[in-house]
Amino acid sequence: MSQKTDKRQQAKWEKRYIDKKTAWDRGEASPALEKTLSKLPKPPSKVLVPACGRGYEVVSFAALGFDVTGVDFAPSAIHDLKHRLSHRNLVATLVDTDLFVWEPNESFDVIYEQTALCALTPDLWSEYARRLHHWLRPGGVLVGMFMQTNRDGGPPWHVSLTALQDLFPEALWSWSDNLNEVIEHPSGLQERFITLKRRD
Ligand SMILES: C[S@@+](CC[C@H](N)C(=O)[O-])C[C@H]1O[C@@H](n2cnc3c(N)ncnc32)[C@H](O)[C@@H]1O
Repeated sequence: MSQKTDKRQQAKWEKRYIDKKTAWDRGEASPALEKTLSKLPKPPSKVLVPACGRGYEVVSFAALGFDVTGVDFAPSAIHDLKHRLSHRNLVATLVDTDLFVWEPNESFDVIYEQTALCALTPDLWSEYARRLHHWLRPGGVLVGMFMQTNRDGGPPWHVSLTALQDLFPEALWSWSDNLNEVIEHPSGLQERFITLKRRD
């Protein structure tokens, strides 16, 4: 299902970057990336970072030799990321587009999803989960950092374990054993840190 770019949402996110209202932005790669490396296929496997924002993780994956693609529809974030990559002489594919319009002509070995789902209104979650499944090759790994706010409304929207189990059913995904691992976020919130494998 290909949709049109949601210009209203795009403008809202772009404005957050321009106004520097970016509480989610760590200013550096999440410690989750380092923790997850041993579970991933080795470089130069193909990594997708959807809704990458300023993309500190895109830079880290590129520095480690992965073939990395970052997607985000906020031009300022992509512009900033481009600049930091070139400053370090690193290469990544950057796509400035809406994730609900994007139709890549390749599949990925790894998807590193960090505070992307929680940025989307819940009515989009099942289509987003369908896309994640489609973008990943069979046997590929989805690393997810899902924001825990324990309150109504968003963004960031609270992503409960029950919601995740509905979005990523056992029939399609093999779940890691540890469902309670969390990563502290500088905003004071926690992210549930889960690794899933796409079944064949
Ligand atoms: C909470 S931020 C997270 C950014 C980054 N993953 C991080 O952890 O710093 C959410 C990001 O999703 C992007 N975004 C939201 N909806 C999107 C969509 N439909 N298509 C592409 N990017 C989107 C926003 O522009 C923003 O950069």
